Amino acid sequence: MARFPKPYPAILITFLSVLALGILSACSSPQNTFDTHADAADNILTIYIIVLVAASLVGAAVLVAMAWLLIKFRDRPGAVARQIHGNIKLEIAWTIAPIFVLLIIGIPTMFWVKGTTDEPDADVIEVLATGHQWWFEFEYPGLGPDGESLFTANELRVPVGRQVAVTLESDDVIHSFWVPQLVGKTDMVPGNTNHLQKFTPGSIGSFYGQCAEFCGSAHALMRFRVHVDSLADWSRWVASMNEPPAEPEPGSKEAAGKLAFAGCSGCHTIQGTTAQGKVGPDLTLLGDRSTLAAGIMENTDENLTAWIKDVRSIKPIPDSPRFMPSFTTMPDETIENITAYLRSSKIR
Ligand code: CUA
Repeated sequence: MARFPKPYPAILITFLSVLALGILSACSSPQNTFDTHADAADNILTIYIIVLVAASLVGAAVLVAMAWLLIKFRDRPGAVARQIHGNIKLEIAWTIAPIFVLLIIGIPTMFWVKGTTDEPDADVIEVLATGHQWWFEFEYPGLGPDGESLFTANELRVPVGRQVAVTLESDDVIHSFWVPQLVGKTDMVPGNTNHLQKFTPGSIGSFYGQCAEFCGSAHALMRFRVHVDSLADWSRWVASMNEPPAEPEPGSKEAAGKLAFAGCSGCHTIQGTTAQGKVGPDLTLLGDRSTLAAGIMENTDENLTAWIKDVRSIKPIPDSPRFMPSFTTMPDETIENITAYLRSSKIR
């Protein structure tokens, strides 16, 4: 007679998996979904825990029952199996039990999903986020000069405690917008407008975001930040974004950089100057951003110079007129001047 394998390997694998989950989920990282900082992420975490607990209990019950049955009814010399047909009590039990489990998971989920379509707060901050290969554009309608839009790139700034409504679009291929500690993930689809779930950040800080949909060679290096500021700091940033930048001192590196930057103005905008290009990221107040190159490196003189000189030494960007050229033949001094000019623009 065939003998069933002993249940120990299954029990061991399950035990080790649960242990690994416990150890790994305790890791602290800037994208840890267990460390939430906005109402939307809190709701996702709550439902996640309800589902996790329900699934764990079901899994444990099945394993215990299976182990008990395997031991109790194992083949022994002289044992004869009892022949049974049907069991009404068992049928009723395993029909009702899953209904209970599904209700426990389903009711809070339905409440939460319904909440995502609530009307926005009266003082909601609206943002249009557009995905580009491989950077994020952020537009704040009505907050720019003369009531037009305000633009920035790769670092979204919002005030703490105010609801944020982000509309998502794409300029080329499908990207996905995800800031794990603030809100769930939503795709940015070309030719289609999606709405991120509205969220209200609960703490001041910088939160990591990244593109979560494969979008080409530099997908893994398409990141961003959400800076949650106090209302006063955020208002100061908005006001500074609307002021023309201070004119660099004549004869300075910054002044030389501003002249050289004229060659970049076909693609980039610096608010309040003649640079009004719309192909690449808006560089207004670049000196105040914490990162460069779509959130992948610290904003330092050295990094910005290296980035301008040859973006292809930092990211796998195809050599095509659609993307930023490399300036490997440009004199180092010119690039350093442009760096000085760009990094001198700060909140006032
Ligand atoms: Cu954009 Cu991946």
